[in-house]
Amino acid sequence: MPSSTIAGPALAALSSLTPNQLIFIKSLPKAELHAHLNGCVPLSVLHQLAETYDFSKNLLSREEILSGLQTLENFSLDDIHSFFGAFRVIYALISTREALATATRAVLAQFLDDSSNGFPECTYLELRTTPRPIEMLSATEYLDTVLKEVEKYPSNRAALILSLDRRMPVNDDEGKGAAITVGEVIDHAIRLKKEGRRVVGVDLCGDPLAGDMSLLEPFITKAQATGLRITLHIAETTQNSASDTLQLLAYSPSRLGHATFLNEEAKEIVLKQSIAVELCLSSNIICKTVPSLSSHHIGYYLERNHPIAVCTDDTLPFRTSLTAEYALLLASPPLGLGLSQTEVEKIARNSLEVAFLRMET
Ligand code: IMP
Ligand code: ZN
Repeated sequence: MPSSTIAGPALAALSSLTPNQLIFIKSLPKAELHAHLNGCVPLSVLHQLAETYDFSKNLLSREEILSGLQTLENFSLDDIHSFFGAFRVIYALISTREALATATRAVLAQFLDDSSNGFPECTYLELRTTPRPIEMLSATEYLDTVLKEVEKYPSNRAALILSLDRRMPVNDDEGKGAAITVGEVIDHAIRLKKEGRRVVGVDLCGDPLAGDMSLLEPFITKAQATGLRITLHIAETTQNSASDTLQLLAYSPSRLGHATFLNEEAKEIVLKQSIAVELCLSSNIICKTVPSLSSHHIGYYLERNHPIAVCTDDTLPFRTSLTAEYALLLASPPLGLGLSQTEVEKIARNSLEVAFLRMET
């Protein structure tokens, strides 16, 4: 990813590093475990897709596409709840099999291909995406298109997690013709795993306040019975209730996303069960769920030697990269957390240890 697409706190930390520190970060073997496919498409690829976009389909007008791309380029948010609208233009541009394949290829290359300095952004990528049936592309075709690109890399380099969206109805009765239901996503994940495709887990994401999480139990149990691992976005906002959080923890997830606002009871469960936490520093600061780097809950987990993985979440709107997120660990305060190289190396090692690929063996 060209450094010009990195901005904000991530760029400030990155720019403060010495060349040796930068090489140290880049050469660390590490895993990216929390990256949403459609949130990580390089802006240049979206501009390319906009050039060949068929406006006659009337999904979005030329003005809407251009202003959406401009918003993404200078992304800022009042709060996390206005975040999800940003995907409208991305979804409009990625609405054919060819566009999806192009975008997926670019995301994989961004994380896994060697850059000019001879190092990839990460040694292993667990990419996640929400199966999204679109005109002329069923959910089966969507997943097949993404997996064909993922599977071009060796199995120790890339795998896929299927995301459930909290806004999805659990089944058809409730969905009344909804695009896709929780039950259908789980069935796709199980089918693909049984077919030997590169699917390693199931995620829960989307608007943090949507949906009734108590309805997920039979679906998550069914996925776990097939050997799929579970990761859940949890307690992302102050408005997430304690019962919502405890309900999600009751599903025995292998990892958690964000886990920003856990109460004492929830923290005790996470620590006792040693549930790995995926932490996304720039994402939390830009979404304003964490006021500053120094108050980020990564400090809580580091003090307790708890398993964590530092990840990007959505490189496009948060204008970051995995290297830049690691720069936030190593840079001196106030630009970074000022961790030692030994501590940063340990976090990188940790990320590889909590990968679903590793847990499978
Ligand atoms: P996709 O699943 O590949 O389409 O990636 C984009 C989707 O990921 C968005 O529409 C959201 O549903 C989800 N997503 C991305 N970032 C976040 C986050 O920080 N919290 C919750 N959901 C997210
Ligand atoms: Zn996320």
